[in-house]
Amino acid sequence: MAQIFDRSSNALARMSIVLTGLIVIALGVTLDQLQRSPWVTRQGQRADQPVPFSHKHHVQGLGLQCQYCHTTVEKSSYAGIPPTRTCMNCHAQIWTNAQLLEPVRQSWYTGQSIPWIKVHDLPDYVYFSHEIHVNKGIGCETCHGRVDEMPLMYAQNTLQMEWCLGCHRNPAKNLRPTSQIYNMDWQEPAEDHPVWCAAADNKPGVPTAESVSCTTKDPASSPESQAALTSPAIPVPVSMTTGTSTQMTPNQSAATLEAQKFTSQDALGHFLVVHYKIRTPKDLTSCEVCHR
Ligand code: HEC
Ligand code: HEC
Ligand code: HEC
Ligand code: HEC
Ligand code: HEC
Repeated sequence: MAQIFDRSSNALARMSIVLTGLIVIALGVTLDQLQRSPWVTRQGQRADQPVPFSHKHHVQGLGLQCQYCHTTVEKSSYAGIPPTRTCMNCHAQIWTNAQLLEPVRQSWYTGQSIPWIKVHDLPDYVYFSHEIHVNKGIGCETCHGRVDEMPLMYAQNTLQMEWCLGCHRNPAKNLRPTSQIYNMDWQEPAEDHPVWCAAADNKPGVPTAESVSCTTKDPASSPESQAALTSPAIPVPVSMTTGTSTQMTPNQSAATLEAQKFTSQDALGHFLVVHYKIRTPKDLTSCEVCHR
C-alpha cells in the first residue's frame, strides 16, 4: 500500500480537504454578501414608476414640504402616498398637456389611484412606525437620504435588520431637535455652529419630546431665538397626547427655561436621549420591539 499511496499523495489529500473548506467558506461569504447586496435589497435602484415624479423639482425647486404630500408621517405608522387630488391641485392648471402627466389625468378621470411601485417595503413580520421615529427626533434624511436632490426616488439604505439595530444600539448619534426633522440640510452641532436647547419640566399630558426646544441662534443675542426656546417646535399628533393640554403656557416656560449650549453631536445626543426619554439600547434591541 505504501508504494501506491506515497507521501506526496497524502499531502495532496490534505490539501484538497483544506481547499474544499476554503471553497465552502467562500461560497458562504458570497451568498451572505449577495443577500445584503443592493441587487437583493434594491438599495439605490430607481423603480420604473408610472409617472417620473421628481422630488428634486417639487421639493427643492418648488419648495413643497414633505407633509404637503406625506400627510400622516407624524401621526401614524404609515407616511402616506398622496392621492391624485394632491397632484391636481397644481396640474389641473400647469403642464395640462404634458404627455408625462397623462397617467395622472387618467387616474383623475377614472378615479383609480396611480399604481406607484413601493420603493421601501419591509417584510410583513417587521413592525415599523414613522410616528415614534419622527416624534423622537430622527430626521427623514437620516433614513431616506437627500430626497430633495433625487430626480427619481430610490432607497438610500438597505432597511435590513442590521441597519435598524445599528441605530437602536446607539440612537444618540442620530438624534436632532424635533423642529429639524424635515430639514434635509441639518448639520450636527460643532464649535462654529452650536445649538442651544432648553428643556421644560415635564407636565402630565405633554409628550416628552415636546418639552424640549432648540435653536441655532445664540439666545443671548437674539430675541427671536429666545421666543423659539419657549414654544414647541412641531405640532404634536393627537394620538400621542392624552387629551389634556398640549400647549405650554409661554409665561410659565419662559421663566423656567435655561438654554444649554451644544458644540458636538455627542453632547446634544445625550441631552436628547435623557429629555426625549429614549429607552436603553438593551430595550431597543430586544426582539419584541420589531417582531411582535
Ligand atoms: C408633491 C408631492 C410630494 C412631496 C412634496 C414629497 N413627496 Fe415623497 N413621494 C411623492 C410621491 C407621489 C411618491 C411615490 C412615487 C415615488 O416613489 O417617487 C413619493 C415617494 C416617497 C418616498 C418613497 C416611498 C416608497 O415607495 O417607499 C419617500 C421616502 C418620500 N417620498 C419621502 C419624501 C420626503 C422626505 C419629502 C420631503 C423632503 C417628500 N417625500 C416630499 C410625493 C411627494
Ligand atoms: C404645488 C404645485 C404642484 C403639485 C402639488 C404637484 N406638482 Fe408636479 N409640477 C409642478 C410644476 C410647477 C412643475 C414644473 C417643474 C419644472 O419644470 O421645474 C411640475 C412638474 C411635474 C412633472 C414633470 C417632470 C418634472 O418633474 O419636471 C411631473 C411628472 C409631475 N410634476 C408630477 C406630479 C405628480 C405625480 C404630483 C402629485 C404627487 C405633482 N406633480 C404635484 C407643480 C406641482
Ligand atoms: C427610522 C427611519 C425612518 C425615518 C426617520 C423616516 N422613514 Fe420613511 N420609511 C422608513 C421605512 C423603514 C419605510 C418602509 C416601511 C414599510 O415598508 O413598512 C419607510 C417608508 C416611507 C414611505 C412610503 C410609505 C410608507 O409609509 O410605507 C414614505 C412616503 C416615507 N417613508 C416618507 C418619510 C418622511 C416624509 C419622513 C420624515 C418626516 C420619513 N419617511 C422618516 C424609514 C424611515
Ligand atoms: C437612525 C436611528 C433609527 C433607525 C435607523 C431605526 N430606528 Fe427604530 N427607533 C429609533 C428611536 C430613537 C426610537 C424611539 C425609542 C424610544 O423612544 O425609546 C425607535 C423606536 C422604534 C420602535 C418602537 C416603537 C414603539 O412604539 O415602541 C420600533 C418598532 C422601531 N423603532 C423599529 C425600527 C425598524 C424596524 C427599523 C429599521 C427598518 C428602525 N426602527 C430603524 C431610532 C431608529
Ligand atoms: C430594530 C428592529 C429589529 C429588532 C430589534 C430585531 N429585528 Fe429581526 N428583523 C428586522 C428587520 C427590519 C428584518 C427584515 C430584514 C430584511 O428585510 O432583510 C428582520 C428580519 C429578521 C429575521 C428574518 C431573517 C433575516 O435575517 O432576514 C429573523 C429570523 C429575525 N429578524 C430575528 C430577530 C431576533 C431573534 C431578534 C432579537 C435578538 C430580532 N430579530 C430583533 C428588525 C429587527
